[in-house]
Amino acid sequence: MHFAAFLQPEIKAYIEQLSTHNDPLLAEMEAVAAQRNFPIIGPVVGRFLYQITLIRKATRIFELGSGYGYSTMWFAKAVHRLGGGEIHHTDGDRRNSEQAQEYFRRAGLLDLVRFHVGDAIEVLHQTPGPFDLLYMDIDKHQYPDAFPAIRDKLAPGGVLIVDNMLWFGRVVDKEDTAASTVGIRRFTQMVWADPEFFTTLVPLRDGFTISVRL
Ligand SMILES: C[S@@+](CC[C@H](N)C(=O)[O-])C[C@H]1O[C@@H](n2cnc3c(N)ncnc32)[C@H](O)[C@@H]1O
Repeated sequence: MHFAAFLQPEIKAYIEQLSTHNDPLLAEMEAVAAQRNFPIIGPVVGRFLYQITLIRKATRIFELGSGYGYSTMWFAKAVHRLGGGEIHHTDGDRRNSEQAQEYFRRAGLLDLVRFHVGDAIEVLHQTPGPFDLLYMDIDKHQYPDAFPAIRDKLAPGGVLIVDNMLWFGRVVDKEDTAASTVGIRRFTQMVWADPEFFTTLVPLRDGFTISVRL
């Protein structure tokens, strides 16, 4: 079972059309993703990250799995609008980190972002908290391993957003026992079972969860 999208094509196109922007740098980053087949969150979820950052007034943000900085850019724009703060960009690939730094230099937002190359879970363990908002998009089999660090570093009232929580429909395919699918299922059970987290699943793009730390 593998779904291209969870919404009817017309509805998906309607939401995408409402999510268009006129930011040339974001558009360039989106074009790079299309060229390289690199899985960025895209503008529909990007807008959501921007909006939730403003709603929560989140000025300390930590991302696990940032790629070349597309999702980070939406957070940075919101933090800039809030008057400043810090967003931690993490990626295991140094080239992604260097490319992201160049985008942030061009955007004039370099001072808002702290760049870390290495395992995002380890970096989160080592970085002093608490954070207002955590966002996770690392390799999916690692999601359960990240939960202790997330619990340790998310502030009360803080927000956790986790990407790919429908995994293109694979989460409901009983025959799919790939490590990635199992990781997402296990993480889903963990976060739902935790009395300190209140979570909903939003079926936009590949599905993401949003949790508030009670
Ligand atoms: C789906 S991409 C991130 C896309 C990004 N969130 C965006 O929307 O622009 C996942 C990234 O996480 C990185 N990654 C995967 N597992 C990681 C880990 N354990 N620690 C650090 N980076 C990791 C990969 O190198 C890749 O660049």
